Amino acid sequence: MAEDEVQRLKRLAAEKAVELVEDGMVLGLGTGSTAALAVDAIGARVAAGLKVVGIPTSEVTAAQSQRLGIPLTDFGHYNAVDLTIDGADAVDLADLTLIKGLGGALLREKIVAAASKRMAVIIDETKLQGTIGSRTPVPVETVRFGWQSTERQLKGLSAKPKLRLGKDGQPFVTDGGNFILDCDFGPITEAAKLHAALKSLTGVVETGLFIGLATDVIIARPGGIEVVR
Ligand code: 5RP
Repeated sequence: MAEDEVQRLKRLAAEKAVELVEDGMVLGLGTGSTAALAVDAIGARVAAGLKVVGIPTSEVTAAQSQRLGIPLTDFGHYNAVDLTIDGADAVDLADLTLIKGLGGALLREKIVAAASKRMAVIIDETKLQGTIGSRTPVPVETVRFGWQSTERQLKGLSAKPKLRLGKDGQPFVTDGGNFILDCDFGPITEAAKLHAALKSLTGVVETGLFIGLATDVIIARPGGIEVVR
């Protein structure tokens, strides 16, 4: 699909999700190119008088929100988020399991998603890949110390881990100061079991498998929008 068309679809999905935003809400503000379009649309509504507060899922999203005048808050002030709008890297429509974190924000994204009453995931149809994992690795956020040891443990779970590098060729460092090992498992049939096994490894902080968190998936296709709940 041409890049312009993908961008158009991302915008459609983002705008549809922002229709769910109501005055007085605490919003989870996602990270990534699709979520950024939703943040833009929320910013436009705030400029027109909408009253919301947002919890950003990354420093990049926090900076974008501040530029747009979206008031920010944190979990010191609120226990729960009314609605989170975020993108995803792969979605299994059978049970709304997601892979997230190719943008590097999976830890904060999961903390916000787990505290959310509703999580609307916005994607273009290229993110639908049948069985999860078949085309997208699972990002695994790992503490820096001893990452090679964590990598060996991951290999023991049949992953093919690859340390993520930044544009400068150095290890990519998350907002939490950690590394990411992108782990190719091939098609994942038991995501919850895999997630639990990954989390049990010393050195693993969080995984990009989002299970039981998404409530709505908004898919933009050339023919129109589909919402799966
Ligand atoms: C960031 C994420 C993003 O939501 C995911 O990578 C999708 O990004 P994009 O909308 O740019 O394709 O999980 O950690």
